[in-house]
Amino acid sequence: MNKTTASENYLIALYPNRGITFTKGNGVYLYDQNGEKYLDLGSNYGVNIFGYNHPSITSALQRQLNDLVNLHCSFNNQVRTQAAENLLKATNGRLSKVFFSNSGAEAIEAALKFARVATGKSHFIAMKNAYHGKTLGALSATGGDRYRNPFLPLLWDFTHITFGDTEELQRSISNNTAAIMIEPVQGEGGIHIAPQEFYSQLQDICVRRNILLIVDEIQSGVGRTGTFLAGEQFGLKPDILCLGKGIAGGIPIGVTLVTKEISSKIPLHIHTSTFGGNPLACAGILAVLKELENGKIFDNVKELGRYLLDQLKSIDNPKIAEVRGLGLMVGMELKENATPVLRALQQERIIAIPAGSNIVRFLPPLIITKNELDKAISVLKRIYS
Ligand SMILES: Cc1ncc(COP(=O)(O)O)c(C=O)c1O
Repeated sequence: MNKTTASENYLIALYPNRGITFTKGNGVYLYDQNGEKYLDLGSNYGVNIFGYNHPSITSALQRQLNDLVNLHCSFNNQVRTQAAENLLKATNGRLSKVFFSNSGAEAIEAALKFARVATGKSHFIAMKNAYHGKTLGALSATGGDRYRNPFLPLLWDFTHITFGDTEELQRSISNNTAAIMIEPVQGEGGIHIAPQEFYSQLQDICVRRNILLIVDEIQSGVGRTGTFLAGEQFGLKPDILCLGKGIAGGIPIGVTLVTKEISSKIPLHIHTSTFGGNPLACAGILAVLKELENGKIFDNVKELGRYLLDQLKSIDNPKIAEVRGLGLMVGMELKENATPVLRALQQERIIAIPAGSNIVRFLPPLIITKNELDKAISVLKRIYS
C-alpha cells in the first residue's frame, strides 16, 4: 500500500494531506522517498529556521542526546540554565525569568495563567484575526469562529478587537483587564501588520492603565522578520513574551518569559511540565542562539525579505489581492482559493504553505539564497502572467 494511504488509515484526519511523503531533509531541501528534492519555503511551518540537518545544530543535539535527554526541572541542569540566560539576553529588555514548555500553545497557556495570578484579574483582550494555538486557553485567545465555535463557551472573559483599531481597544478595557495579547505580525491569520501608531498607543495604554502586554512571537520571533523579535521594530516592550517553533532547532518547545515583578507573584507548583526545560531542547536553543550571533543572518532576512516582497508585488494580475510581509514572513493574498497555486508550486518541487483559504504564505529558512527564491518567483510569474 502506498504510504500516504496508510497514514490516512491510522491518523485522525485533522490535517489536509499534501500527498507527499518526506523521508529526509538537508539545507533548505526536503527529500521524498524517491530521492526527489523539494525547496521548502515554509520551513515546516516556521520551525526549520536554519533548514534541515544544519551541521552545528545537529551536532549540538547529538552531543546532548548522548549526555542527557530529559531532566525534571526540580533538578538543576547547566544547559537549561544557560539556555534561559542566553534567551533573556537575546530579548534585551526587562524580562528576567523563563518557563519552558513543549509547544507554542503551551507557552500561551502559561502566559495567560501567569497574567491571571500576577494581576488577580480575568479579562483579556486579544485580536480578531489572531492565532495563538488550539488548546483551550490558547483557543480562548485565538480569534475567528472557525476553530472556536465547536467548543463554546471558552475560558474566562476574552474580548476580541480589530487588529490595529486603537479606539476599539480603548473601549474594551475594564477595571478587570489583566492583559492584552498580540502577535506583532499575524501569521496564521494571513500576515497582517498594523499601523505603527497602533503599536505605539498599545504600548502606551498598557503602561498608563497598568495592563500587562503579552506578545506572542512564536511565529514572528527568532529572526524571522529581520530582528530577533518582530516587536523590536514596533517599539513593543512585553511584560510576557512567548516563543516556540524554531527556537530549539526543531525539538518541540514553548518558552514563556516574564518580568521579575510577574515572576515574584507566581506561586510554587501552580504551573509545571514534565518535559518542559528538557536538556535536549535547551541544547537546541543554545545552538540556534549561537547561529543567530552571526548578525549577517539578520541582514539576509531583511534583504531577501524585501526582494521577495518586491518581486511578488511586481506581478500584475487582478487575481492577486495584496502582497504583504516583514522580513521572511510574506503572504500573497489571492482573490481565489490558494490550493491550486500551492499545488502548482509543489509540482515544481517547491513547498509553500497556506494561511486561511486564500493566502499563500512564505516562511523560508533564514539561510535561503536569492537564487532559491527566484525559482519560486519565476513559477508564480508564470502562473499569473
Ligand atoms: C503566533 C502563534 N502562536 C501560537 C501558535 C501555536 O503553536 P503550536 O502549534 O506549537 O502549539 C502558533 C502556531 O502556528 C503561532 O503561529
